[in-house]
Amino acid sequence: MRIDPENLPEGDEKRDAVRSLFDSIAGRYDLVNRVITFGLDVRWRRRAVSALDLNAGSIVLDLACGTGDFCRETSRVGMVPIGIDLSMGMLAAARTDAPLLQGDVLALPISDGAVDGAVCGFALRNLVELPGFFAELSRVVRLGGRISLLDAAEPSNTVLRTGHRVYFQKIVPRIGALLSDRTAYTYLPRSLAYMPAWPDLKGQLSAAGFADIERHVFIGAHLITATRDR
Ligand SMILES: C[S@@+](CC[C@H](N)C(=O)[O-])C[C@H]1O[C@@H](n2cnc3c(N)ncnc32)[C@H](O)[C@@H]1O
Repeated sequence: MRIDPENLPEGDEKRDAVRSLFDSIAGRYDLVNRVITFGLDVRWRRRAVSALDLNAGSIVLDLACGTGDFCRETSRVGMVPIGIDLSMGMLAAARTDAPLLQGDVLALPISDGAVDGAVCGFALRNLVELPGFFAELSRVVRLGGRISLLDAAEPSNTVLRTGHRVYFQKIVPRIGALLSDRTAYTYLPRSLAYMPAWPDLKGQLSAAGFADIERHVFIGAHLITATRDR
């Protein structure tokens, strides 16, 4: 199923369209990511893993792991990652020694309280719903465990936000067309429209049982961290 960036899909249609989109761009996903973020995505993931504040040996889920960038970063600091993604294409292109599972992060094949933490990179916008995802996170992360959610976001500063909009909405689709697939890289900036405002997102995390909820905004991304509290 081909995604239509002009008519953002919902429900099962969205899940199927997202899966085939990532299947189709998997081979060049890492290259395009590095180019469109000027390599900053590597630094952002490093920051996200450090913000988990978990010991070496901690078991950490990399949810919607794609090609496994977060698996590699968590392994690098001595954590024990498990990656889960919907797209077989992305999993097949993954460069990691971590165990990888094909599945939907809205129905995790993981026991209650079984992991110390979870990371999720650039996937929130692609999920069919967020409250259900946060409920799953709260179910599988142990009490006191940590989560780090990294995603694309607009800068808070007005001038930077205007520049970022031009870059993300006009230039990124062109880079995508050149290196990979124009439709996919037109959808990706537009998919920001799926994201609720920060106060709503924070409310959803709190309702799911998370506390110490913090947000750090970078130019082009934001990092949300929280502790499972109940
Ligand atoms: C933009 S990529 C991010 C990949 C990786 N996390 C990263 O940091 O580069 C989004 C990923 O989310 C996955 N995805 C989307 N919906 C999903 C779902 N419901 N369950 C599991 N994975 C999902 C896609 O297959 C894709 O690999």
